[in-house]
Amino acid sequence: MCGIFGYVGHQSNAAEIVLKGLKRLEYRGYDSWGIAAVGQTGARIAVKKKAGKIGGATVDDLPKSTLAFGHTRWATHGGVTDVNAHPHLDCTGTIALIHNGIFENYEQIKKKLIVRGHHFRSETDTEVAVHLIEEYARSMMFTKAVQKAFNDMKGLNAIIVTDVKNHTLIAARNGSPLVVGFGDGENFLASDAAALLPHTKQVHFLEDDEMAIIGVNAIMLFNAKTGEHLQPKKQRLTWNVRDAEKGDYPFLMLKEIYEQPGVVSDIAANAAYVQTHAAHIKKSRGAYLVGCGTASYAAVAGEYLFSKIAKRHVNVAIGSEFGYHLDFLNRDSLIVAISQSGETMDILESVKKARQKGAKILALVNVLGSTLYREADYKLMIDAGPEKGVASTKAFIGMLAHLTLLAYAVAGKTNDGVAVLTRAVVSMKKVLSDPSVRKIKKLAKKLKKSEHIYVIGRGLSYLTALESALKIKEISYIHAEGLAAGELKHGPLALVTKGTPCIAFLPDDETYGANLAGAMEMKARGGYIIGVSHKPHEVFDYYIQVPTAGEATIMPNVVVAQLLAYYLTIERGFDPDMPRNLAKSVTVK
Ligand code: F6R
Repeated sequence: MCGIFGYVGHQSNAAEIVLKGLKRLEYRGYDSWGIAAVGQTGARIAVKKKAGKIGGATVDDLPKSTLAFGHTRWATHGGVTDVNAHPHLDCTGTIALIHNGIFENYEQIKKKLIVRGHHFRSETDTEVAVHLIEEYARSMMFTKAVQKAFNDMKGLNAIIVTDVKNHTLIAARNGSPLVVGFGDGENFLASDAAALLPHTKQVHFLEDDEMAIIGVNAIMLFNAKTGEHLQPKKQRLTWNVRDAEKGDYPFLMLKEIYEQPGVVSDIAANAAYVQTHAAHIKKSRGAYLVGCGTASYAAVAGEYLFSKIAKRHVNVAIGSEFGYHLDFLNRDSLIVAISQSGETMDILESVKKARQKGAKILALVNVLGSTLYREADYKLMIDAGPEKGVASTKAFIGMLAHLTLLAYAVAGKTNDGVAVLTRAVVSMKKVLSDPSVRKIKKLAKKLKKSEHIYVIGRGLSYLTALESALKIKEISYIHAEGLAAGELKHGPLALVTKGTPCIAFLPDDETYGANLAGAMEMKARGGYIIGVSHKPHEVFDYYIQVPTAGEATIMPNVVVAQLLAYYLTIERGFDPDMPRNLAKSVTVK
């Protein structure tokens, strides 16, 4: 959730490097930000921190320095104010700290520190950590003080600390992601590997309870519990800087929407991998697909696809609910954990619980080296490239493509899976063609003042409806509800009045007739019917054409919804890349 970027090296504009690093992390969502720069004089640490977005802010008012670190905060403890933003300083102003996570036992420790004379300025749990380090550093080496304080902190936390004497950044993590980057005469630290791309591709992802001391010429690693010295496991990032930037597109989300045909054709072109993972699924006795938000809809798609194509039952659970489904897990169970970021706390917790039952973990994940990637027994990369728009688009399409291929491979028909994905690519390109996008833009103009939008589908189009509604509500802030068309008459029809916009997904499959009946029920109550289908129908007030792609028609259908959500957001004057109250990766429970 919060972003972290740190620099120590030969360049004297460390604060500027950090500011740029934080800007690359803005997509994660935040409500305040701050940077600390340690000047060479050993004087107090200079801090600039503000509530709100970075916008056009500069760090010209911070001193020239070769060490700096910064943070984008997503408030948990304490309101969104300048004072509560990180970094936080100790009483002397010579130790600075930033923090991701929740310091669960901060209140007891704070009380003791107040008795010891420490003076607190903010309402945050974070500030307690820096005073605790100050307290310990009175009687031990600074590194030891950081280690001891970190071990005292209950909860899932990552901290980064510096002081005016040592010219190092000290980082420790338990739960919250951190990655160190190896440079030449300079080293880096970030909460997200993509932020390091302009500087280095050589990285080490910190494991839980690992501590790193990051200096100009070396990064040393320790076990934070035992103090044992560790060797970094260096990895090379495969993404490019350009992949993580919006280029000529006005927003990252739009760029990521347009990348989707390429993502699916790459997956189809490299389908050979699928056999190994299909074998894991076949071997298991009870497979669970687990995801959160959009990824949970990919899991639901998986359930339909495995049933329809592979004639195999798989269970589905939302990450946050998975803990209540553990009774039937055993050593033969397989958990397919689906996550773009690989850092979603509810997924990581699910994986931990499944492991305790002896189950095996297959990660379907987009971020190399993420916690989920490292925890899994079997790793299947989504390979959608960096996804930075908060609303997931291309990672979702990538998840669907892999699940489709897996279902076909389990059925022993991988080639048919490749063929269906190839059709989906053609159909997505059609949806993304200029005339089709113009039509969707026009629809967005019509619907921009709507208070509610209902979306219906059946079978695979049911979760198309769920995902469409999520995309619309999370970025345009119009209330949207996705429904199984058959459920309309069990309640929701009561909400349809004259002019209520109703989107109906009607692909050329066994659901067509029954879905059409749903659209007609809405029309009969005055609904304004937007038909998304391979052919027009008189019941439609507005028609968007989507060429059939067999079982993969869900992909172009979702692209229609993504574009509609995007243009509704633009029409309403909001930023699709940074929806209010949301963060790109949800690393807290
Ligand atoms: C919605 C969205 C979220 C994520 C969810 C899981 O557009 O992006 O619902 O899908 O937070 O995130 P990952 O896939 O990173 O586990």
